Amino acid sequence: MWEHRAMSDTRDLVRLIAAHAGMEGALLPILHDVQHAFGCVDGEAEAEIAKALNLSRAEVHGVVSFYHDFTPQADPRPRVELCRAEACKARGVEAMVPAAEKAAGSQVQLKTVYCLGLCSAGPNARVGDTLHARLDEAALVALIEGAR
Ligand code: FES
Repeated sequence: MWEHRAMSDTRDLVRLIAAHAGMEGALLPILHDVQHAFGCVDGEAEAEIAKALNLSRAEVHGVVSFYHDFTPQADPRPRVELCRAEACKARGVEAMVPAAEKAAGSQVQLKTVYCLGLCSAGPNARVGDTLHARLDEAALVALIEGAR
């Protein structure tokens, strides 16, 4: 929860919001950055963002609850993002999904994303900030198992 965040986290949040200050349509980019940095957009983060953007807390919360990308609490499990957009589909990602889901089980968050920007080298996945390209099923399963 926000109340329990370290002071450095508070400064990170303020810095992150400030990076988008004055930008038109800043709400979604800020929410994505907060989700990525903290693993969630909790109530206190919503309040801080609302204050910075001169929005009501309800407006921010409405956007947060509308998109599945944002979660109110951090999930402590490791996260593997698997691209299932068109180019990766054309390169066979869908056939790998059952094995990936089995490898993830309940220990790893397996998230679908739509394009990681490496379309010509798919199927692709991301763990943290690291992109993994040209995955076959065995490599994807190993990646997920290694993320545990
Ligand atoms: S479609 Fe998968 S990286 Fe672009």
